[in-house]
Amino acid sequence: MTNSNRRYNITTFGCQMNKADSERMAGILETMGYDFTEDPNEASIIVYNTCSIRDNAEQKVYSYLGKQAKRKHKEGDLTLVVAGCVAQQEGEQLLRRVPEIDLIMGPQHANRLDSLLDQVFAGNQIVATEPVHIFEDITKPRRESSVSAWVNIIYGCNERCSYCVVPNTRGVEQSRTPEAIKAEIEELARQGYKEITLLGQNIDAYGRDLPGTTETGRHKHTLTDLLYFIHDVEGIERIRFATSHPRYFTERLIKACHELPKVCEHFHIPFQSGDNEVLKAMKRGYTHERYRDIINKIRGYMPHAAISADAIVGFPGETEEQFENTLRLVEDIGFDQLNTAAYSPRPQTPAAEWENQLSEEVKGDRLARLNHLVSVKAAERSQRYLGKIEQVLVEDVNPKDATQVVGRTDGNRLTFFAGDINQLKGKIVPVKITQVRAFSLTGEALTLVEA
Ligand code: SAH
Ligand code: SF4
Ligand code: F3S
Repeated sequence: MTNSNRRYNITTFGCQMNKADSERMAGILETMGYDFTEDPNEASIIVYNTCSIRDNAEQKVYSYLGKQAKRKHKEGDLTLVVAGCVAQQEGEQLLRRVPEIDLIMGPQHANRLDSLLDQVFAGNQIVATEPVHIFEDITKPRRESSVSAWVNIIYGCNERCSYCVVPNTRGVEQSRTPEAIKAEIEELARQGYKEITLLGQNIDAYGRDLPGTTETGRHKHTLTDLLYFIHDVEGIERIRFATSHPRYFTERLIKACHELPKVCEHFHIPFQSGDNEVLKAMKRGYTHERYRDIINKIRGYMPHAAISADAIVGFPGETEEQFENTLRLVEDIGFDQLNTAAYSPRPQTPAAEWENQLSEEVKGDRLARLNHLVSVKAAERSQRYLGKIEQVLVEDVNPKDATQVVGRTDGNRLTFFAGDINQLKGKIVPVKITQVRAFSLTGEALTLVEA
């Protein structure tokens, strides 16, 4: 039985991977003849694409699900889908908690939404969490933006950071071939996209699972080689990539970013902690010295590069002194942006079992202190833009002021300026920066004098 009301809604939690998966699932639903509705209460298919990186992310989905389960009892014609990382982590247990769910599907199954739904419409309750080889994607994603697009290059993660659910939820690393990636980017260029962001949980692992080595014995396909391979696709003006892992980050990659004009001078390299003992317990495989060395090398080639990262405070056993080493690293490096989180014990991860857990109070206090330092440093970093001319790729109208447009600089700073979105969308505009805030800028477009 299919639904009589052919409208769907997808709610996405979590990271860029999930956003990219949601865009593909939306594309599949549209191909099946469903239309998007903003209001979940009007939809007959509801997909929750879930995140389990921290407990609060996971809990959100249960409250959403509870409401829709009730609606299903009242209205009947409703298909409930739980996709993403909580689906993978909890599997069948979710059914015990919310028996109204029709389909539970892990991230590796996103491309198979149509055939899974067919099984649901045939009257089955489905749990799709077994590991699969991710087939080359032939769906047409329904992309959120018409300017900037995500491009998955490697799925999964083979690391075993002791706090992290991702290897359990996303499975082993699977790289797409350079040819498939380039074909997708060429298609995006044809559709008018200007910017692409290559995605991987550990993007430096790209290509390790593909066949072939070079004469010097390294893997034939690396992220660096891929950047050269895709760089010249006509129409694409900016290339970004995330997330980098300090353990595998190479100087070759830094050189390539410096050399290739379309690759943005923005690096997202999570360090997690500034203390070597904590890094060891996290199983991160590098020291803070190595991390500092990477940043110094980047700044040696590209003095203005924007640097962002992720960090965790209150990891089990973290002493006040060890936490201060994280503060010191943040003070010394001066990040443009830092995503911070208090450690959250996660199911089936080693660190969750340890006895040296810290209290919520200590974690909260450290998080507040770190966040304060981060905004002070980011505001300092923003000063360097004042009075400068930045190239801004215009994405949208400023949601808070319709006379302004919003875009991002090469270094990924959100920038607002007066202008007409109909004329400027997708254009790279030189903007003189007149106001700076910690995480965003305001400026004036320079009128170009035509010769
Ligand atoms: N693959 C990336 C990040 C993946 S998860 C990397 O290796 O850096 C995104 C961020 O969530 C992580 O960088 C980390 O800072 C945070 N995170 C992951 N597990 C967490 C946990 N158990 N508690 C708190 N934060 C966590
Ligand atoms: Fe998680 Fe570590 Fe993999 Fe990042 S590298 S996704 S933190 S296991
Ligand atoms: Fe969350 Fe899964 Fe991404 S746990 S952060 S959605 S990989």
